[in-house]
Amino acid sequence: MNRLPIGILGSGKGSNCRAILERIRSGHLAAEARVVISDVLDAPILDIAREFSVANAYLPPGQFRTRLEPEVENELVKMLRDAGVYLVILAGFMRVLHAPMLNAFPRRIINIHPSLLPKFPGLAAWKQALAAGEAATGCTVHFVEEQVDHGQIIARREVTILPNDTPETLHARIQIAEHELYPAAIAEFCEKFAALGL
Ligand code: GAR
Repeated sequence: MNRLPIGILGSGKGSNCRAILERIRSGHLAAEARVVISDVLDAPILDIAREFSVANAYLPPGQFRTRLEPEVENELVKMLRDAGVYLVILAGFMRVLHAPMLNAFPRRIINIHPSLLPKFPGLAAWKQALAAGEAATGCTVHFVEEQVDHGQIIARREVTILPNDTPETLHARIQIAEHELYPAAIAEFCEKFAALGL
């Protein structure tokens, strides 16, 4: 079976990246991780890539805080293309992507967000859900489009909010749900890719 070539982008601890790489290693996900790229030099996600013997790179983001400099985003496109990546997976990548990436990988960039979108887009979504007094929140896998956290929804999983939840306990349970939902959503791309016979 043809394995789906994926590239993973992340800025932080990389627990979703680990969950994906573990599923690949155990044979439950017909994907091949070609490269892991981070905009943060010492991000643990790069250590995880090394632990799994996956090619990895630090991409200096440039002068902006929430996006990549346009030349840097072009460089990112080149790195992913050179690695033969078909599906780009954002796993805690805290930069907004723009035209270079969106045009290079149309409907081939996906993200996981820690709320039941369209509710609570933006930062620290679990805190937003807690502050709003919701009975439940969760996580969403969606296509990445120009407007942040607004692309077409691929899959969602609900997480109950408990009476004594803190932001930390709630985010930890959302992450457990993420680690199941993201690989399951990627598995569907793997099936479609295999059917294409590329
Ligand atoms: C995840 O909870 C993910 O949903 C969130 O960052 C965390 C990364 O964790 N992403 C966003 O908030 C994007 N808007 P990880 O580095 O352990 O995978």
